[in-house]
Amino acid sequence: MDALGELGAIEGGGCCRLALTDDDRAGRDLVVTWMQDLGLDVRIDAVGNVVAQWGDPDEAPVLIGSHIDTVRTGGRYDGNLGVLGGLEVIESVIESGVTPARPLAVAFFTDEEGSRFAPDMLGSLTYAGGLAVEEAHDIVGIDGARLGDELARIGYLGPHPCPGRPPHAYVELHIEQGPVLEAGGIDIGVVESVQGISWTELTIEGQSNHAGTTPMSLRHDAGYAAAAIATFVRRLAEEMGPPQVATVGSLRVRPDLVNVIASLATMTVDLRNTDESALQEAEQRLAAFFPKVAEAEGVRIRARSLSRFEPVVFDSGVVDLVERTARRLGHSTMRLPSGAGHDAQMLARVCPAGMIFVPSVGGISHNPAEYTAPGDLEAGANVLLQVVLELAT
Ligand code: GLV
Ligand code: MN
Ligand code: MN
Repeated sequence: MDALGELGAIEGGGCCRLALTDDDRAGRDLVVTWMQDLGLDVRIDAVGNVVAQWGDPDEAPVLIGSHIDTVRTGGRYDGNLGVLGGLEVIESVIESGVTPARPLAVAFFTDEEGSRFAPDMLGSLTYAGGLAVEEAHDIVGIDGARLGDELARIGYLGPHPCPGRPPHAYVELHIEQGPVLEAGGIDIGVVESVQGISWTELTIEGQSNHAGTTPMSLRHDAGYAAAAIATFVRRLAEEMGPPQVATVGSLRVRPDLVNVIASLATMTVDLRNTDESALQEAEQRLAAFFPKVAEAEGVRIRARSLSRFEPVVFDSGVVDLVERTARRLGHSTMRLPSGAGHDAQMLARVCPAGMIFVPSVGGISHNPAEYTAPGDLEAGANVLLQVVLELAT
């Protein structure tokens, strides 16, 4: 994990490997080398997902997966643990001389983060048949690049078909990225579900004018409208109460000068809730606020959906197996929903799927300071090993 973390390393011990950038390519190349070193059959598909199988290539494997792309200010653990944990599991099984009845495979999926190309979980969504390859290729990123062009540029526009073959089962080991396990002194999180997610991009058009001469009553201030929406979003989550969360993570104004009223603002809103009807209520209340701000300030507001996924409940058989296995290995466990999106929620569309969480120190993630202690990484990987062996037997 440290070797992979050196690629795209940023200050504070974190990583910047935004999907399909040169740094992402370097990370991919390194992990593919490790897959080849284990003698796995490595296949790259039409959206750059990489699946490496050990055992009969014609049989559906027990698939272990996650992602190695990161947010711009990411840590070394988010996603990477699940992929390298999978490699470690397969290596351990090979070395032990055990041959499970079913093949094992490990995958990393393209653009799980969605920070550069929305939606998030793009690669696993496409693998599971939820997005057409052509549509995925035509997605334009925050820097104006087209996903299909970037795949080709970094050498990961693969020959294998997508959607991919449904695995026999799918398991993902991941850091919790939240404070719950650490606060409870719990070793292993048994993930029962993933909350629903709704991403919206807003473009607000006002009129730039002189900051000194324009009376307050005559302004069409895109920056002010954006600020009003940002505070509304925060209040909305507070009024609805947990588990509703709401975030304005990107906010840019133009021309971005001290003495010019902003003519343009672009911003994003991330709404999440474990309850689909509550998430819909949050979306409706947000949408109803736009015309009010637009009218009051005399600006134009356009909204575009970037990502929308309903809550997902994992297969009860896999969830029970994770819990049973962790306890058998002597760990304390807790069932919990995932606050973050994961590739497992897409694979759950095509096969029994589940997840294993290990604690995040301070609940910090999407931050270079993200940290999980070595003993917890090892505990998670050992639970993964035993869960996978049972599913493959
Ligand atoms: C992915 O990390 C997400 O949940 O935003
Ligand atoms: Mn992740
Ligand atoms: Mn993430």
